[in-house]
Amino acid sequence: MRILVIGSGAREHALAYSLSLDPSVEQVHVSPGNAGMTAVATLHPDGDPVALAREIEADLVVIGPEIPLVAGVADELRAAGFAVFGPSAAAAQIEGSKAFAKDIMAKAQVRTADAVSVPVGSSDSFIDATLDKFGPTYVVKDDGLAGGKGVVVTADRAEALEHIHAVHAGGNPVLLESFLDGPEVSLFCLVDGETVVPLLPAQDFKRVGDNDKGPNTGGMGAYTPLPWLPEDGVQRIVTEVVEPVAKQMVAEGVPFNGLLYAGLAWGSEGPAVVEFNCRFGDPETQPVLRLLKTPLGGVLNAVATGTLDQLPPLEWEDGYALTVVLAAENYPASPVTGKPIVGAEPGNESRGILAAGVAEQNGQLVSSGGRVLNVIGTGATLAEARKQAYETLQGIQLEGSHYRSDIALPAVEGRISI
Ligand code: GLY
Repeated sequence: MRILVIGSGAREHALAYSLSLDPSVEQVHVSPGNAGMTAVATLHPDGDPVALAREIEADLVVIGPEIPLVAGVADELRAAGFAVFGPSAAAAQIEGSKAFAKDIMAKAQVRTADAVSVPVGSSDSFIDATLDKFGPTYVVKDDGLAGGKGVVVTADRAEALEHIHAVHAGGNPVLLESFLDGPEVSLFCLVDGETVVPLLPAQDFKRVGDNDKGPNTGGMGAYTPLPWLPEDGVQRIVTEVVEPVAKQMVAEGVPFNGLLYAGLAWGSEGPAVVEFNCRFGDPETQPVLRLLKTPLGGVLNAVATGTLDQLPPLEWEDGYALTVVLAAENYPASPVTGKPIVGAEPGNESRGILAAGVAEQNGQLVSSGGRVLNVIGTGATLAEARKQAYETLQGIQLEGSHYRSDIALPAVEGRISI
């Protein structure tokens, strides 16, 4: 197969690397990709995906980020005759429109937070009354696509108000929600209509600093699987959450085809939905794919061609995988870019090094975004996976960079209970 991956971050690097290891995949192309992934894929500039898919005679197109999905790129590619991994614009509303997602969940009787929409121009008295209804703790969401950075969870009313005004200033409505207690779980499911196949459960770390301090980011690290999740945890999420939602979407005439990402909080009554995303999560995909033994090309192609129900059960490596994100100086506020990166040259994927905000300047890799690299460790235990990832990080130099030193630490120390 010739496969085209759309996107540019470490998630797309992980997809391209796993695809390059699949014997049924002859060529991996990425648009636009980044300069750190040239050892495993041919890069193409950002452009018209249909024209590019035609030019390289793609057998399968895999769309990484939510923005092209919500904009209907999968529909355009399908209309042009290509097999696509990724939902239609109508189905991508499960991420793109919080109101659509809440409506599907209500009809499917899936547990989720109560929510009230606070449109741009809402009166101070309405905002105050809605904050009173839910908080503290206040959950303030940007009701548009915000790359995972649009949520503020805070006990501080002034901070909640500040985020409401900032989101409104950007032109988006706000969603105020009840706070869901309990540890967070990301469960990625391959979905083809009513057929649901879960991947390993993962957890990500969204705040910039250790002990969940500081502002939200696109994600600072993740690990998989979750040693603290009940043995039937994944099956419960599939049965209580993902299957009813997939079935409801089919019933509404908007079947989902691609990767449905359930972001959940595991509270006293079990899993409740924090949000759905219509694509692979970043950075959880990086460790999850590291443990997938079944060749990825065949898996994604089965979803794209409507034959997921015929795919043999997925096979997984034993043990754990963990990723730590190396971020640029001053990320997430205003990342410093253009700094040389040493020790993360292309071709280091098997050592667990994946590139995100990376460009090439005069033959040298330089930082070009906030989240610059992902470093993955694996091991028989989560502690070993942590050790390997942090050791690999020591060999990488990027002036001013920072990372969290506590990825998966609460799980390793047995501090997560449900
Ligand atoms: N891990 C958060 C996200 O992908 O949105």
